[in-house]
Amino acid sequence: MFFERVGHALATVQDDYDLVVIDCPPQLGYLTLGAVCAATSLLITIHPQMVDVASMSQFLLMASDLMRVVRDAGGDLSHDFIRYVVTRHEPHDGPQSQIVALLRGLFEDDVLAASVWKSTAIADAGLTKQSLYELERNSVGRATYDRAYESLDAVHREILGLVHKAWGRAA
Ligand SMILES: Nc1ncnc2c1ncn2[C@@H]1O[C@H](COP(=O)(O)OP(=O)(O)OP(=O)(O)O)[C@@H](O)[C@H]1O
Ligand SMILES: [Mg+2]
Repeated sequence: MFFERVGHALATVQDDYDLVVIDCPPQLGYLTLGAVCAATSLLITIHPQMVDVASMSQFLLMASDLMRVVRDAGGDLSHDFIRYVVTRHEPHDGPQSQIVALLRGLFEDDVLAASVWKSTAIADAGLTKQSLYELERNSVGRATYDRAYESLDAVHREILGLVHKAWGRAA
């Protein structure tokens, strides 16, 4: 079946990797469905702005319809964990804080406690297809870099904790 192909391809190289991250486009094409079936866990990013939350909600509704079809056709949709990750977060923005509070109220622990803060350091790194970890610390202001680094590290620590738990390891 088409939704099993990503998983089959990964199975041929799985001994070479501890972790595989599949970055899906926001569309419900064959690749995304294949990735969701191949994945052992899912991270769903949320930009805390009302239009983005509304379109994500629409997307997830359509996704759940499709998942039902995939499951009925024998697709494996079991995941060790599924979490929402707040990204491009501006913690001092009032409306954003309300949306984040709303999401936490609705989804509780399914939203990671840490969030990725909006930062020019992350945007600058992205311009040259780098991650923040590859950026020279003094190419942006030191304080800017450190703030972005801390927020990203907190998110990654939390995700790693979930991975270790799924692997049956102590934190
Ligand atoms: N934490 C951040 N701080 C500042 N800018 C950011 C941050 N995260 C992403 N951006 C910027 O926002 C834009 C979109 O980011 P990104 O490509 O990660 O989003 P995406 O949702 O994966 O988009 P796509 O749907 O195209 O895959 C980019 O220009 C990126 O540099
Ligand atoms: Mg993307």
